Amino acid sequence: MGVPERLGARIAARLAALDREGLTRTLAGPSGIDLSSNDYLCLSRDPRVVARLVEGVHEHGVGSTGSRLLRGERASTSRLEARFAAFKGAARSLYFSSGYLANLAVVATFAEPGDLIISDGLNHASLIDGIRLAKAERAIAPHADPAALEQLLANRRTTGQAFVVTESIFSMDGDEAPLADYAEICQRHGAALVVDEAHAVGIYGRRGSGLVEETGTEDGVWLTVNTAGKALGVSGAFVAGDAPAVDYLIQRGRPMLFSTAAPPALAEAIGESLAIVEGEPALRGRVRALASLLRSALRDRQLPVMDGRSQVVPILVGDNERAVALSRDLQAQGFDVRAVRPPTVPAGTARLRVSVNTGLTETVLHDFVAALAANWERTTLCAASS
Ligand SMILES: Cc1ncc(COP(=O)(O)O)c(C=O)c1O
Repeated sequence: MGVPERLGARIAARLAALDREGLTRTLAGPSGIDLSSNDYLCLSRDPRVVARLVEGVHEHGVGSTGSRLLRGERASTSRLEARFAAFKGAARSLYFSSGYLANLAVVATFAEPGDLIISDGLNHASLIDGIRLAKAERAIAPHADPAALEQLLANRRTTGQAFVVTESIFSMDGDEAPLADYAEICQRHGAALVVDEAHAVGIYGRRGSGLVEETGTEDGVWLTVNTAGKALGVSGAFVAGDAPAVDYLIQRGRPMLFSTAAPPALAEAIGESLAIVEGEPALRGRVRALASLLRSALRDRQLPVMDGRSQVVPILVGDNERAVALSRDLQAQGFDVRAVRPPTVPAGTARLRVSVNTGLTETVLHDFVAALAANWERTTLCAASS
C-alpha cells in the first residue's frame, strides 16, 4: 500500500514525540489478578450470563444483519429496553452498541445553534466528542463544583436551551458528581441534566440502577447513559429517560441510525446480568466493602489514593514514566494494574487506576498494597538518585 511521503514522515514524527513524552501506548491483554477491568461484578464470565449468550446466538444468529431501522431490529432488544427503563425508573430506554456511541448521540442530537452545553472538566472523551459534534456553544465547568455551575448558568449569554453533562461516578477519578445540587440548580435554571452512569449502574442504589437512584435525583435528571459493558459484563449502553427524547433519538440519533445494530444475543445476556443485579444485591455490597478496605489499606501506607468511595480507586503518581514503571513492576508480580496517562487524565496527574471486583479477596488486596508500597519506595529512591 502506498503511503504518501509527507504523511509517513509526519506520523513517524508524532510517534517519536509521544515516545519522548512517555506517552506511547501498547495493547496488552489480561494477565495476572484483575485490578484494572470494569467487570466489577465478574458478570462477563458468570456461567448464567455466558449460557444465555450462547442460547441467544442459537436463537438469533450471530449478527443483527442491519441497522435498527432496517432488518436489524429485534423483539429481544426492544423487550430489554422496556425492562431497563423500568429498572431505571424511566419512561423509556434505547440501546446503543456502545457507551461511546450513546454519549455521542445524547450530546450531539438535541443541542441546536443558540443552545449551551456545560460539561464537567473531567468528563469522559465520549461526552467531549459529542460536544465537539454538537452545533451549540460550550463551556467547561470546574469539576464537581455546584457554585461554578450556578455561575455559568446565571451568566450565560445564549438564549437557547442549556444542557449540563456529567458523569455520576467519574471513570478515572472514582469520585462523585454532586447530583442533588446539580439537579436542583438545573431545575431552577431550566437546564436539562444528562448523567453518564457508566461506572455507577450495577453498583449504586437499592435496586442497583445507579447513583441517580441512590441520591433520589430521578426527577431532576433528564437523561442517563448506562453502559452494559462494565458492571453488567456485556457491552453496549442504554439511554434512559423522557419518552419523547428517546423517540427523537430514534428519528435523529445518527450513531444508532447509521450503524449495524448490536448482535441480538447480547440483549439476552444483558437481560441475565440485570436479573443477577436485581436479585443479588450482596454482590454490589461486596464490591463496595472491598473498595473501602483497599482505600483504607492504601491510606495506612501513606500511598496517595485519590478521594472517593467508589470501586474505582486511583493512586496518583504524577509522572508518566513512573506510572508506567510502577504498573510494569506490579504486573511482573502478578497484579494486572494499568497506568493511565494524558490525554486520558490531565497533564501531571498520571495514575494507577485500580478497580475492585467481586472476584478479589481481602488477602489479595493486602498483598497488592504491600507490593505497591515496596515498589513505590524503590521508584522514589531511583528518582532521587538519578
Ligand atoms: C464514563 C464513561 N462513559 C462512557 C464510556 C464508553 O462506554 P463504552 O466502553 O461502552 O463505549 C466509558 C468507557 O470507558 C466511560 O468510562
